[in-house]
Amino acid sequence: MAVFWDTFSGGFMTDSSSLTDEQFAFLDLKPDLEVVLREVHQGLSLAAKAISPKFFYDERGSELFDAITELPEYYVTRTEMALFDAHMAEISACLEENICVIEYGSGSTKKIRRLLEVLQPQAYVPVDISGDYLLSNAEVLLSDFPALKIFPVCADITQSFDLPSQVEALRPLGFYPGSSIGNFEPTDAVEFLRRVHVTLGTGGYFLVGVDAKKDVSILEAAYDDAAGVTAQFNLNTLVHLNERLGADFDLDNFEHFSRYNSELGCIQMFLKSTVPQQVNLAGKVISFAEGELLHTENSFKYTKQEFITLAQSAQFECLKSWQDSKQWFSLFLLRAC
Ligand code: AVJ
Repeated sequence: MAVFWDTFSGGFMTDSSSLTDEQFAFLDLKPDLEVVLREVHQGLSLAAKAISPKFFYDERGSELFDAITELPEYYVTRTEMALFDAHMAEISACLEENICVIEYGSGSTKKIRRLLEVLQPQAYVPVDISGDYLLSNAEVLLSDFPALKIFPVCADITQSFDLPSQVEALRPLGFYPGSSIGNFEPTDAVEFLRRVHVTLGTGGYFLVGVDAKKDVSILEAAYDDAAGVTAQFNLNTLVHLNERLGADFDLDNFEHFSRYNSELGCIQMFLKSTVPQQVNLAGKVISFAEGELLHTENSFKYTKQEFITLAQSAQFECLKSWQDSKQWFSLFLLRAC
């Protein structure tokens, strides 16, 4: 089944029927290219060059991330999935009826399926920066869950955004799996949770998966896999910038580099310039020295108590939490108070 915009009726259509905007509507809040360009320029002008990890996720980047989740070294996704399988019924029992699930950074539909099957919410609002990927995934879900109302929102989840008006009467459950919250520095994570609090409103639930601190060798292997998929994922940022912003990064002149920073408690990923070089980006020239690092991602790890304290400083109470037997990963069910 395909979902497409019909200019004649001014609504979304599938192959066989038209969808009312009470059942399906796409909200495009994607930031302007100019805003994006300014942000990238700014990061590349810093003494320690950096760009946001959101630039991993063009369509290819989202696919590469899905490949990462299957890697033997990347324990994150399978550990979290096992926790969902074991505890989703219990999570469901903690909630009330008339739930609307809002997924922050929705990506692939793998995790949400389990949740939709058990929770049976009224509506689902996937929010993602990668618009094409978002729509094609929403389309697949629509055919697999015909009774579900779906309102995809293309937006940058690091900024505040409003929920579609169609879900106003429902109780929101924010869903933020995969330890993506680890991409924020702890103080920014608190700011992010405050914005989530505003979006969900008092009484809103937030189900969040958070990677735990563990042996450094396990962490480092997970972000530098033997098959080199993480390296491809990291380097794809440059392809994304070339295609979207007309930059001319030469991929042969950069390599993947990652390490655990135990002082900060996070994995840090970089692209290392292997030669002295200059890169053009929309009329500006950016110089790299040999060996210079471009920071692309932080992935913070939290003990259970560290994260509960962080959530509390954003006015969330922890209703319940779950960990696997190795204590490698935690799920928290929070409530905005
Ligand atoms: C999507 C942010 C959860 O930090 O583990 C995977 C991204 N980066 N391998 C993570 C990622 C490199 C991932 N998150």
